[in-house]
Amino acid sequence: MRVWVPYVEMADLARARPDVEVDVYDGVSGPPQSLDQVELYVLPYLQGRGPARLMAAMPRLRVAQTLTAGVDDVLPLVPDGVTLCNARGVHDASTAELAVALVLASLRGIPDFVRDGALGRWHGDRRDSLADRRVLLVGYGSVGAAVERRLEGFECDVRRVARRARDGVHGFADLPHLLTEADVVVLTVPMTEETRGMVDARFLAALPDDALLVNVARGPVVRTDDLLAEVTSGRLRAALDVTDPEPLPEQNPLWSCPNVLISPHVGGNTSAFLPRACRLIEEQLRRISVGEPLLNVVSGAY
Ligand SMILES: NC(=O)c1ccc[n+]([C@@H]2O[C@H](COP(=O)([O-])OP(=O)(O)OC[C@H]3O[C@@H](n4cnc5c(N)ncnc54)[C@H](OP(=O)(O)O)[C@@H]3O)[C@@H](O)[C@H]2O)c1
Repeated sequence: MRVWVPYVEMADLARARPDVEVDVYDGVSGPPQSLDQVELYVLPYLQGRGPARLMAAMPRLRVAQTLTAGVDDVLPLVPDGVTLCNARGVHDASTAELAVALVLASLRGIPDFVRDGALGRWHGDRRDSLADRRVLLVGYGSVGAAVERRLEGFECDVRRVARRARDGVHGFADLPHLLTEADVVVLTVPMTEETRGMVDARFLAALPDDALLVNVARGPVVRTDDLLAEVTSGRLRAALDVTDPEPLPEQNPLWSCPNVLISPHVGGNTSAFLPRACRLIEEQLRRISVGEPLLNVVSGAY
């Protein structure tokens, strides 16, 4: 089986299997000659849609494996008959860590301290602690559960909402009420037709004054203009790893809101990524070679 992977570390793992031939394609340099032989394509990470468009020219492609958890941008480009797998789990540690970092930094006023530091200004006033805050996780899948694990020990009250209600997890229908009691909302839903624009003026208006919205999901889950109205008035705070659009243009007023902390979509892009991505690919190759079902199938049936 011919496999394309984006990293030499992954290629080394794949080459250890006798049934696999490997090419490295990082999405930056030109594609390898074996386009017409690829059966498993591990798409380059964070290289835009260009590498995904190559799938249309791969006649033998059977499995497309993303290294992102969200596949909203790739899904429309997957040819019929090709199974798409995502990287659910690969980014949990890194993204959950950033979500908690954004919560702590925003509540404790770290961006203000950095601004004050640049001016040599000693200004200490009383800030919110994460202890005793009511934290609402909107989305309780792989990343959401990882956020909750990291919140243990902070003495906050965590509530969970997902599509389907289950033990300890509220269904989406309970969201309007839960919002009225949330000091911190962390978004970890996927981008779907249902979640696009889900955080709109009504959603935001339901939150108490001074509530903090943290988005580590996808930018278009939040209506930027509606959020802008609430943060420029100073009623709400926000910490955003993802924005709509991305990159956020230099002139966007969100940049200059003192109560908005922005990170440039780096939730998953840390040292934790490659080892976990390699483990996923190693496991997928093992499954293919013994005929077991693949992990993280989003569409198709390999
Ligand atoms: N910032 C970053 O760098 C970064 C990194 C990794 C992931 N992400 C984003 O995080 C998303 C989630 O990843 P994941 O691995 O945790 O996915 P996941 O395991 O599939 O979990 C998604 C969760 O969202 C819930 N959900 C889906 N639609 C919903 C809706 N309309 N209302 C309320 N809840 C809804 C699901 O509900 P059920 O449990 O009921 O199905 C599930 O709990 C990804 O799709 C990606 O966009 C961002």
